[in-house]
Amino acid sequence: MPINLQGKSFLKLLDFSTEEILYLLELSKEFKKLKLTRTPHRYLEGKNIVLLFEKTSTRTRCSFEVAGYDLGMGVTYLEPGSSQMGHKESIADTARVLGRFYDGIEYRGFSQDLVQELSDKAGVPVWNGLTDEFHPTQMLADIMTIEENFGRLKGLNLTYMGDARNNVANSLMVVSAKLGINFTACGPKDLMPKADLVETCRELAKEHGSTITLTEDPKEGAKDAHAIYTDIWVSMGEPADVWAERIKLLEPYRVTQELMDLGAKGCIFLHCLPSFHDTNTKVGQDIEKQFGIKEMEVSDEVFESRQSKVFDEAENRMHTIKAVMYATLK
Ligand code: CP
Ligand code: NVA
Repeated sequence: MPINLQGKSFLKLLDFSTEEILYLLELSKEFKKLKLTRTPHRYLEGKNIVLLFEKTSTRTRCSFEVAGYDLGMGVTYLEPGSSQMGHKESIADTARVLGRFYDGIEYRGFSQDLVQELSDKAGVPVWNGLTDEFHPTQMLADIMTIEENFGRLKGLNLTYMGDARNNVANSLMVVSAKLGINFTACGPKDLMPKADLVETCRELAKEHGSTITLTEDPKEGAKDAHAIYTDIWVSMGEPADVWAERIKLLEPYRVTQELMDLGAKGCIFLHCLPSFHDTNTKVGQDIEKQFGIKEMEVSDEVFESRQSKVFDEAENRMHTIKAVMYATLK
């Protein structure tokens, strides 16, 4: 049966079949070609979208904006705290208003229930630009980058190192399970993904011939990995006072060259960004002053190495988000 995602929201990858995810990846490749050859593709001219952000963003916001413009659409950006939503107006009422004005809504915020409610009430597709639980548009870019480097996906080994129960780690486990990638969550016992999500992913992985492994040993986690992925140790929305504990728990999981060297031949480094790999940020400087460390989740050596594909990955956010909007709005 041909794939048809018209009118569908993009809230989490558990809602999508393997075939649908692969279709979005194929579409992303087409859009990348069009962009790189500067071929106009204003396929959604006349439509309008709104980007609703309750947390800050560089990549996700700019990807939606540029992708929207490239597709010929009008784009409204509502920055954190700048709309009535959450203060004077409920999510349900906001959804019903925005759904009358716009053809699609991007939402970045806190609980997954909120983005679900927005989608239930808006009557137009809603795209999840990150919640505390999932970051599905990021996954398409990550998988696209992995495929660009290895020419395949099935049977590869992907290791997430660090806070293995955050939105990015959860989403990587889901997408790996759906695409037959062997996924390892490597982190301390207290920062492992929830048991029910692991169970769901193990069942999916079995169907697709891959495995889900949890390990607390960074060397075991890195061994034979085709891609080693990490993310910041404290996510948006978490209180600043967790830094001390997180640093203590996660220092052994910093992605160093020594860990990268344990990976499979051609092992690549991935990170959704932003990253604390040096002290060229305000947070980086504060952490150095307070805790005496200059690098956090990844060493600067690895971040700047040839194995690091983080900027290709960031670019792919735009192509993949374009594919999601096109598939759901066309
Ligand atoms: N990776 C990612 O979502 O980046 P932003 O927070 O800059 O959107
Ligand atoms: N886990 C991070 C991802 C940022 C793109 C956060 O939620 O802050």
